[in-house]
Amino acid sequence: MSLSAGRPTVGEVDLGALEFNYRQIQKRIPEGVKLLAVVKADAYGHGAIPVSHKLEKLGVEYLGVAIPEEGVELRRGGIKTPILVLGGIFEGEVDPFFRFRLTPVLFRKDSLKLLSREAEKRRKKVRVHVKVDTGMGRLGVPFNLWADFLKEVKRFPNIEVEGLLSHFSMTDQEKNYTHSQWRAFQRAVRMAKETGISCPYLHMASSAILTAFPSYSANLARPGIMLYGSYPSSTYQPLIPLKPVMTLKTRIHFLKSVPPGTRISYGGTFTTKRESLIATLPIGYADGYSRHLSNQGEVLIRGKRAPVVGRVCMDFITADVTDIPHVSMGDEVVLMGKQGREQISAEEIAEKINSISYEVLCLIGKRVPRVYKE
Ligand SMILES: Cc1ncc(COP(=O)(O)O)c(C=O)c1O
Repeated sequence: MSLSAGRPTVGEVDLGALEFNYRQIQKRIPEGVKLLAVVKADAYGHGAIPVSHKLEKLGVEYLGVAIPEEGVELRRGGIKTPILVLGGIFEGEVDPFFRFRLTPVLFRKDSLKLLSREAEKRRKKVRVHVKVDTGMGRLGVPFNLWADFLKEVKRFPNIEVEGLLSHFSMTDQEKNYTHSQWRAFQRAVRMAKETGISCPYLHMASSAILTAFPSYSANLARPGIMLYGSYPSSTYQPLIPLKPVMTLKTRIHFLKSVPPGTRISYGGTFTTKRESLIATLPIGYADGYSRHLSNQGEVLIRGKRAPVVGRVCMDFITADVTDIPHVSMGDEVVLMGKQGREQISAEEIAEKINSISYEVLCLIGKRVPRVYKE
């Protein structure tokens, strides 16, 4: 098998799979509901600029990032679609919102005043989305202060409310909590109308909600994880077909035959019980391959599973490939994704490290080049 130049560890991003997932989500939500695609955290590790260009081509209505810097990166990368900064305004930093046409989510009175003052200086109107807390308990105007906040917003003629939003905290077990959050949001929207605020965008539903309660999508749904082909939890898997977008792969860097009783990697936590073939793979926890996968993870080589043995190091892992026929140096290794009929999902890895697929994807580090295919 030929080796291309350089370290062969890559995250292969399938933009065709992203399109497939986008279309599946569109099918799931009621007609007329638009999509705000969440591309924060570098599009959950997939590369925010190429992912956003693809979403733009697909006609996405809005993009969502967590912090202004992520919005600036998208604008500098040529993205024209409206961008909502979900995390709000940090430490009075309002300039990027004007310079790069970013829309802030608003829930603090001091940000409101600052924004209005800056808009006045620049003789501009500024569009905002106002967030109400209906039960998530993280960001958003507390419900008991909502009426007062709306009145305050109305005092500033250069603040244009383009959207109202909230966020479901959603557990699979407590549907009643979800229903009560939705009712609270509807009440919040009614209160806004009564104050003279009506706006084009109302949004609350992330992946889990648009799947389980599509009618709670208001007129703009905010999917993140499902665009990337993972499920918010296994409950949703039968409800919507998705294709994983990222394949994490490398090639065997070193292969050696060792006698029984050989200790492998730091701390000698694995000892061979038989004459074994040990493959060293050029990926480690510095690349986001969690150290919790030491003696736990599996990889795919020649369409078969091989166990990760010994501790995950910063730059390398070791796998026992004794049972893979004809294994050789340079063979392709899939750490996450499909090979032949076998597949290792982000969810499978998440379960092993006691986490969620979101974290598995976001952990994949900058040192791993992303390569894109359509
Ligand atoms: C405010 C907000 N909306 C939408 C999303 C997207 O959620 P998901 O990735 O579960 O679809 C997130 C993700 O954390 C979020 O924080």
